Amino acid sequence: MKVLVIGSGGREHALVWKIRQSKKVEKVFCAPGNGGISQIAKCVNVRADNIKGLVDFATRNKIGLTVVGPEQPLALGIVDEFQRRKLKIFGPEKKAAQLESSKVFAKEFMQQYHIPTAPFKIFDNQAEAIGFCKSVEFPVVVKVDGLAAGKGVMIVHNFQEAETAIEAVFDEQRFGTAGSRIVIESCLVGQEVSVMALTDGKSIIPLLPSQDHKQAFEGDSGPNTGGMGAFCPAGFITDELMEQVVEQIFQPTVAGLRNENIPYRGVIYAGIMLTKVGPKVLEYNCRFGDPETQVVLPLLKTDLLDVFKAVIDRRLSNFRALDWRPGAAACVIMASEGYPGHYESGRKIIGLQNVRNEGCYIFHSGTRRDGKQWLTDGGRVLGVMGSGDNLQAALKKSYSLVDRIKFPGAMYRRDIGFRVLGDKRK
Ligand code: AMP
Ligand code: GLY
Repeated sequence: MKVLVIGSGGREHALVWKIRQSKKVEKVFCAPGNGGISQIAKCVNVRADNIKGLVDFATRNKIGLTVVGPEQPLALGIVDEFQRRKLKIFGPEKKAAQLESSKVFAKEFMQQYHIPTAPFKIFDNQAEAIGFCKSVEFPVVVKVDGLAAGKGVMIVHNFQEAETAIEAVFDEQRFGTAGSRIVIESCLVGQEVSVMALTDGKSIIPLLPSQDHKQAFEGDSGPNTGGMGAFCPAGFITDELMEQVVEQIFQPTVAGLRNENIPYRGVIYAGIMLTKVGPKVLEYNCRFGDPETQVVLPLLKTDLLDVFKAVIDRRLSNFRALDWRPGAAACVIMASEGYPGHYESGRKIIGLQNVRNEGCYIFHSGTRRDGKQWLTDGGRVLGVMGSGDNLQAALKKSYSLVDRIKFPGAMYRRDIGFRVLGDKRK
């Protein structure tokens, strides 16, 4: 079978890497891919949001299965379009992708189906939103409705900050139409965990839980980024807690979607806060997480292509459970100086050649080739993954590899996993 993966980041590199391990795969294409992906797949110069270009490519090349990495093509309806053309594709349809593409939709959906989440209010104008903030207990969280690449969530600690955030959305229109409505919700406290689950609209199979570090700087401080590192499994989640997550979150989510006549096929990602009174949903994503995928897939033994096909053909119930390797995986993101703000690309990377460390893999987020030379080509540049018997061993492998990779202004966090390991990490 020929497989097409859509996207160009570390997540897509991990998907391509894992899919290639399936014996049923004849050739893997990636659109548009990146420098690292081009070493193991054929990169195709079609952007992830060019739906017509992707449909045409899949038809012309007789692609047997397409896997969508990022959220934009899902929100644009790529799955609906592929299905119209009788092409097999892994991911939810446009209506179901609203769980991620509209926070208002997601919050109203959770309220209706009693899925635990922070109490909230929705506003479509500045005066009412600011008026409401006069009587709330701070901190609260202000979220723009539409997709904003992780930048549309602002935790505000007092009225002044709330006013500034709300004015940025409505007055300055900083988020364009994504900010035509906002959600204001209570701020939850606890450990965060990312749980992804596969579903064919009926059966649900959770993947191992993971944790990512969103903030740019050590100690989880500084601005939010796309993710500076991750590890799997999130050891603090007991089996009992996972059962609670499936029963209280995933089952009512999938049943609710079915009830709304929006059958969901693909992977649902729930960003969860483990509060004192139980797990609560912070957000849904309709796709694999980045960088969570870079630590979850290395632990998966089951053939990913078989699972994807079972989801698409609505026979996921054939799989009782997935097969996992024991141990842990960790991923340290190496980013460009200045990220998540302004950064420069085109810097020479050294140390990528001849890496043959057992249990390690370098997933490229933003690189390109210039002849024999590797160059940085994005904010997040590399995701250095190490796996081992436990989290400490996995991190030790990642960091020993990170130490050998150099580019001017390389930035990375030294403390991935600190919330679990504390000082044991060193
Ligand atoms: P989101 O894009 O909705 O996942 O939000 C990004 C990040 O903001 C989350 O990973 C949390 O760290 C934080 N966040 C979002 N909503 C809340 C909330 N209600 N309480 C506390 N933190 C939140
Ligand atoms: N790691 C968070 C996300 O993929 O949205």
